[in-house]
Amino acid sequence: MDKNNSGNLEIEILEYNKSMRKNIIEFYQGLPAEDVYKRFFGVCKDFECYVDNLERRDGIILVARHGKKIVGVCEAYPVNNHEWEVAIIVDKEFRRKGVGRRLLTEIALRIRDVGGRILFGIISRANTEAIKACMKLGCKAESYDYQTVKLYYVLP
Ligand SMILES: CC(C)(COP(=O)(O)OP(=O)(O)OC[C@H]1O[C@@H](n2cnc3c(N)ncnc32)[C@H](O)[C@@H]1OP(=O)(O)O)[C@@H](O)C(=O)NCCC(=O)NCCS
Repeated sequence: MDKNNSGNLEIEILEYNKSMRKNIIEFYQGLPAEDVYKRFFGVCKDFECYVDNLERRDGIILVARHGKKIVGVCEAYPVNNHEWEVAIIVDKEFRRKGVGRRLLTEIALRIRDVGGRILFGIISRANTEAIKACMKLGCKAESYDYQTVKLYYVLP
């Protein structure tokens, strides 16, 4: 995963903290409906409530920032001692510039540091963009159900 092709884009990868609350809510609220569907597997409207939950959960949340603007978020939560479920979204304007790779590389390092061994995400079969990106990042895919695939990455 560790290739940085964000060129001269000034992107910082930071751990989420409560001072970013307003910005992360604005980021999620500003997503087009199709991206909300891809990321949340359905309609999510109450992002204040979503962020309340995110702040309470025991996970790792990284944001990609361009100046003060949040342009990507990657969330990971442990499901058992070794496996972590990961979800990611990058602002459409900032895709294909290495932001997703940087978020996933950083979160993978942090997960490894706390003893995790496998990262996985469940993705709609129709979400070919994310499937192609994850395969390029070294993930493997297995059928999960008729609508979804499980993409997973075994940490080296
Ligand atoms: C999946 C997603 C996070 C990728 O983010 P990104 O910032 O565009 O990814 P990167 O620019 O770091 O690309 C990583 C690799 O995937 C490749 N890639 C990215 N999008 C691709 C696409 N649509 N088709 C083919 N390859 C693609 C890139 O070329 C890159 O490979 P390379 O470094 O060998 O060139 C982004 O497309 C997204 O936010 N999608 C909507 C949300 C979503 O579906 N999330 C997944 C479910 S939780």
